[in-house]
Amino acid sequence: MINAEITGWGKCMPPNVLSNHDLEQIVDTTDEWITTRTGIKERRISHVDTSEMAYVAGMRALSAAGKTPEDIDLLIVATCSGDSIIPSTASIVQKKLGASGAAAMDLNSACSGFVYSMVVASNMIKGGANKTALLIGAEKLHYVTDYTDRATCILFGDGAGAVVMEATEEPHGVMATDLGNDGTIYDLLQVPKDGTMGEPGQRDPQMQAISMQGQGVFKQAVTGMAESATISMGKAGVGLEDVDLLIPHQANVRIIDATARRLGLDDSKVFVNIHSYGNTSGATIPVALTEALEQGRIQPGSTVVFAAFGAGMSWGSMVYKWGSRVDPLATPEIDLPPTDQTTMDILSANFDFFGMPEKLA
Ligand code: ACO
Repeated sequence: MINAEITGWGKCMPPNVLSNHDLEQIVDTTDEWITTRTGIKERRISHVDTSEMAYVAGMRALSAAGKTPEDIDLLIVATCSGDSIIPSTASIVQKKLGASGAAAMDLNSACSGFVYSMVVASNMIKGGANKTALLIGAEKLHYVTDYTDRATCILFGDGAGAVVMEATEEPHGVMATDLGNDGTIYDLLQVPKDGTMGEPGQRDPQMQAISMQGQGVFKQAVTGMAESATISMGKAGVGLEDVDLLIPHQANVRIIDATARRLGLDDSKVFVNIHSYGNTSGATIPVALTEALEQGRIQPGSTVVFAAFGAGMSWGSMVYKWGSRVDPLATPEIDLPPTDQTTMDILSANFDFFGMPEKLA
């Protein structure tokens, strides 16, 4: 029977850092408040478009799999902060990769987008429609972040991660999945007028930044991730004792801890890197997977559970049996173009559009 397996992985984190101490200079907050409420210490701010980070992460994943762009027949970019709506960011990434001919699409399910992409791609592979897929989660969330709003600007960051999925007849790969969404509560987290909700020509800063009901999202996140992971584990016939690593969406360390507690999973089996990058939405899971492999947290035969939630409100999970290879086949000499801009230089466009934070005025 044909299954889908992950054969390559990679990430691309832009070099500019925005630390909690930097944020103390911008809004009325403290490193202590941010650390205890979210677990975040710093996040990255990109000097390039989403597609550029996606391209670098994608090339790294392809090299790790021993593949070239010409080998892929499916390209999915999970993003809610892509370069454009028309064309898809995937089309722009495809041009950069030189992977013409492959099916290409964006998938927007906000922070659940990468798990959604893995489920879609693995089913296309299992069904025989595709053989080799490149899945990229890439975000430039600072673009929709209002740095006068201390409740949201501390959370989000930029970055990209990617995996290659291929058909396999070996007894490993995707074991079970679960996806869901509750549109009745879509307004818990939104960028209200980023699409056709706005009037033509209207640019209303208040409506083009992320707005969020933090506590409502928090509750949905914990129940969504824990219930979805339980459903996938039930379908896969996997018990808690069989799970080697949970890779959850990185939105808030308290959400991750509460999810693990609800599942009854020991902290040692949960991967956390939110302190370094904040919430990079569709990118958190492939970046976390790449770092888990780099740190030896995944071994041949490991059972890995992915779980995510996001705007929508969406959720998803996957139980995955790792194969024998945990090292990349190759690492390419490829990186983002260098920049001499400071983080504050990059953020000045946000200050111009959304408003100058009081502390900088
Ligand atoms: N610094 C200092 N004080 C702050 C800050 C800040 N950065 N932000 C808010 N506060 C204050 C509030 O004004 C409030 O003050 P008050 O008591 O005087 O009114 C107090 O801190 C408590 O605020 P709460 O909103 O109740 O704080 P909470 O403990 O809920 O934490 C947080 C807020 C971190 C946003 C939390 O609700 C959360 O993480 N929610 C989930 C958010 C999330 O995961 N979003 C991403 C979803 S994924 C996607 O699809 C993009």
